[in-house]
Amino acid sequence: MSAKRGSQKSRPKTSWDPLARWYDGWVGKEGSKHHRKLAIPAVLELLHLQAGERVLDMGAGQGVLAPFISRAGGIYTGIDVSEKLLAYARKHHREHGKFVHGNALHLSGIPQFTPQSFDAVVFLLSIQDMDPLNEALESAAWALVPGGRVVILMTHPCFRIPRQSGWGWDEGRKLQFRRVDRYLTQLAIPLKPYPGQTGVSRSFHRPLQDYVNTLAENGLYMDRMKEIPTYKVKKTGPRAKAENLANREIPLFLALRAVKFLGE
Ligand SMILES: C[S@@+](CC[C@H](N)C(=O)[O-])C[C@H]1O[C@@H](n2cnc3c(N)ncnc32)[C@H](O)[C@@H]1O
Repeated sequence: MSAKRGSQKSRPKTSWDPLARWYDGWVGKEGSKHHRKLAIPAVLELLHLQAGERVLDMGAGQGVLAPFISRAGGIYTGIDVSEKLLAYARKHHREHGKFVHGNALHLSGIPQFTPQSFDAVVFLLSIQDMDPLNEALESAAWALVPGGRVVILMTHPCFRIPRQSGWGWDEGRKLQFRRVDRYLTQLAIPLKPYPGQTGVSRSFHRPLQDYVNTLAENGLYMDRMKEIPTYKVKKTGPRAKAENLANREIPLFLALRAVKFLGE
């Protein structure tokens, strides 16, 4: 392998270093409301963790998942390519686990990792920040024991495609609908910056079939799925009833669980 290729592998362009300060301010030590009310409960439900199990958090960010895993009796390791987010992770959650710097797509090249050494691998709001998908799932499969599981929590790829989907209002039927402009094509979409955010990130959109098929191609067979609506409820306003119905019916997040093939 050439030196150039090696350095690209160890430093992918998807690091959230430029967003680290803003992201830590938004998520905080305890996690954002989306983490606490929706994403983490779904991950824990699908993980179905047993005491003493080893969990690898791919794209751990500032470590929001660590205390939940350690309190459930798991042994937590987080990996991220952003040194800055890992510094926050160690500041907030050092006592809950270990944080490793590196490219999650190439775990086999990181000395701290050995094959088949985790009972579960989690991608918490990180798989859509990694590219290519096949390398992320191949790497997860490499780290898992046979029978181990991978849990992926992401924004729902069928309904929540950044810049290519949105809400609309049907005046005749007095209902709020979800518009989807593009779906089947893979897209790398630059996200609109939030107020106070300095860097820009890209979200990698893939249709659902890509997740299911790429999991299976890496010996990871899906056995559970959870589609999660927002927790938000609108109390007032002429469209509150219609908005609440749409919010209950059209999910915000998708969680998948797949189990690594046990072999012959
Ligand atoms: C949206 S953040 C999610 C962080 C955390 N899981 C959470 O829920 O708060 C996505 C994370 O993926 C990390 N990331 C992107 N590509 C990566 C890669 N190839 N290896 C490791 N981490 C990566 C980014 O640096 C960032 O911290």
